[in-house]
Amino acid sequence: MNEAIPLCLPSVGVAEEAAVANALRSGWVAPAGPQVDAFEAELGALTERPAVVSVSSGTAALHLACLAAGIRAGDEVAVATLTFAATANVLSYIGAVPVFIDSDESGLMSPELLRLALSERAASGRPLKAVVPVDVYGRPVDHSAIAEAARDFGAVVVSDAAESLGAQLDGHPAGSFGKFAAVSFNGNKIVTTSSGGAVLCPSQDAADRVRYLATQARQPVPHYEHTEVGFNYRLSNILAALGSAQLSRLPEILSAKRTIYFAYREMASRLEGMRMLDPAEGNCWMSVLILDTPGATAAIGDDLATQGIETRPVFKPMHLQPVHAGCDLSYITGNAEALFNRGIVLPSSTDMRAEQLERVIDAVASVKTARSHV
Ligand SMILES: Cc1ncc(COP(=O)(O)O)c(C=O)c1O
Repeated sequence: MNEAIPLCLPSVGVAEEAAVANALRSGWVAPAGPQVDAFEAELGALTERPAVVSVSSGTAALHLACLAAGIRAGDEVAVATLTFAATANVLSYIGAVPVFIDSDESGLMSPELLRLALSERAASGRPLKAVVPVDVYGRPVDHSAIAEAARDFGAVVVSDAAESLGAQLDGHPAGSFGKFAAVSFNGNKIVTTSSGGAVLCPSQDAADRVRYLATQARQPVPHYEHTEVGFNYRLSNILAALGSAQLSRLPEILSAKRTIYFAYREMASRLEGMRMLDPAEGNCWMSVLILDTPGATAAIGDDLATQGIETRPVFKPMHLQPVHAGCDLSYITGNAEALFNRGIVLPSSTDMRAEQLERVIDAVASVKTARSHV
């Protein structure tokens, strides 16, 4: 049996081990401490943000970012339909209602459809409160067009940058766009704390509010005093140490991801009927193969699975999810669904060895060749 090639494993080594051991020895075994402060400062510098609050997951970060941005129960919010479930789930936590916006052909939220949604809703007297664009597969969406549309109709932008840390757009880093942004440090992300996330804030005051909400909304008095419902969302000091060690390796991680993408791109250029999804200015977090023939992804996925190679279909769009049955389909054109039917995520682990990459490439090529002879 061939050695398994997983979809996307974290790259952790001696630097991470030492950082975690040091944090443990420091005695700061709590969801606060010097490693948390250092990690937040490093993230602020990386994303051009004046203040950052690290939390226990990307989902928690998005939830708090939406609350801090003023989204409340009953508000309607424009959300990218091609994304991971958490982007829409956090709106449901609040009682807000997602209005799904389809993507352009690259899978990123279409600024034209967004503008249409914002203007139609404004004209009908039911303005959209906020916009949540997503940097899907690490590729920044057209943030300037989205910001302009949102500004024209008074909507606040909360950017889901869970996947895009390390990417750059128009000279600015992913995470710097939107009033608030959220990043994820899940085990499969470009930088991991095993589980974790961060809210990237526009000011120290905003960060204070987010930190307060993340700390059970506890009032600053010695006894336990609460005037509103809060959450227990803070990141452990031990995990923040892991995050800092990972951040110090970000250039190396980004370079490995690019090498993987370019190897797959070379493969796709040799084979008919497929191409790689263009990473544009993204961080190459995940390499996505697009097939010309809709529906052929399952066959390739199954074939590769028999050889121990893990793949994953492109995200099933949110407007097709049973949990969102009955949602507004006014701004759905079919682009996200087309990518779901034709896209397959290939193994993209930072530490993939050259021979593992070759095995995936040979496997895709042989499936392709075998089928073209049928
Ligand atoms: C686009 C997107 N948003 C939100 C999340 C949620 O992050 P987490 O898993 O850290 O809660 C993820 C990843 O898991 C994601 O890919």
